[in-house]
Amino acid sequence: MSEAGEHRNFYGRIHGKTLRAQQKADLETGLAALALKGVTREDNPSRAALDLSFAGGRPLWLEVGFGGGEHLVHMAARNPGIFLIGCEPFVNGVAMLLGKLRDGKVSNVAIHPGDVRDLFDVLPGGCLTKVFLNYPDPWPKARHHRRRFVSPGYLQALARVCAPGAEFRVATDIPDYVRQTLEEVPAAGFELVHQAGEGGAWEDWLSTRYERKALREGRAPHYLTFRREG
Ligand SMILES: C[S@@+](CC[C@H](N)C(=O)[O-])C[C@H]1O[C@@H](n2cnc3c(N)ncnc32)[C@H](O)[C@@H]1O
Repeated sequence: MSEAGEHRNFYGRIHGKTLRAQQKADLETGLAALALKGVTREDNPSRAALDLSFAGGRPLWLEVGFGGGEHLVHMAARNPGIFLIGCEPFVNGVAMLLGKLRDGKVSNVAIHPGDVRDLFDVLPGGCLTKVFLNYPDPWPKARHHRRRFVSPGYLQALARVCAPGAEFRVATDIPDYVRQTLEEVPAAGFELVHQAGEGGAWEDWLSTRYERKALREGRAPHYLTFRREG
């Protein structure tokens, strides 16, 4: 695992299609109000723990790689008593989320527009009570499996910031990702509490863009629920 402050490789996409004028405006104005301060190395070189007072004492949830933000907005809207951090390095995804938040109806959200590992460095231990990982990048080639979120570096960092009893949900359409999840997540200190296939999503689930793509292309969803031990 990389130590805090050490350079980390990020292999995903950061930029996609050219942004529309409104999306550029959202990134220039809306993001400043919602982006967490003190997460990046530039902003917080000593990697001091974040002050969580922005959450107003509410239970803190995290969505890793929120894509277009539809699931994140849905969860925040139906759970006004919690505070949800969304993490996504893909600028077009951040712009899409900002568009969904522009009307101000959902306000219990903050964004880290970058790598979740930088956020893990600075979150206080045991601060998260629920974490969503929806359709993580599959990295199908065997030599790239260690880039998957469900590998020890990410999972040890996740385990540190989860409260005892915290729920960790994983949705994926890749059978080999299910295999690695079932091997690695329990090894990092999480107990498997439920697994289901197509049609067995959580009762509060909102299908994401990647899930719809998987279904169109004939791949079946898998839904895994873990609980942090301790
Ligand atoms: C396949 S997409 C799924 C997006 C969305 N969750 C959905 O279901 O439609 C995976 C997302 O994870 C993001 N991602 C990859 N590595 C990440 C990291 N280290 N930290 C945060 N997000 C990451 C990618 O940028 C991408 O948007």
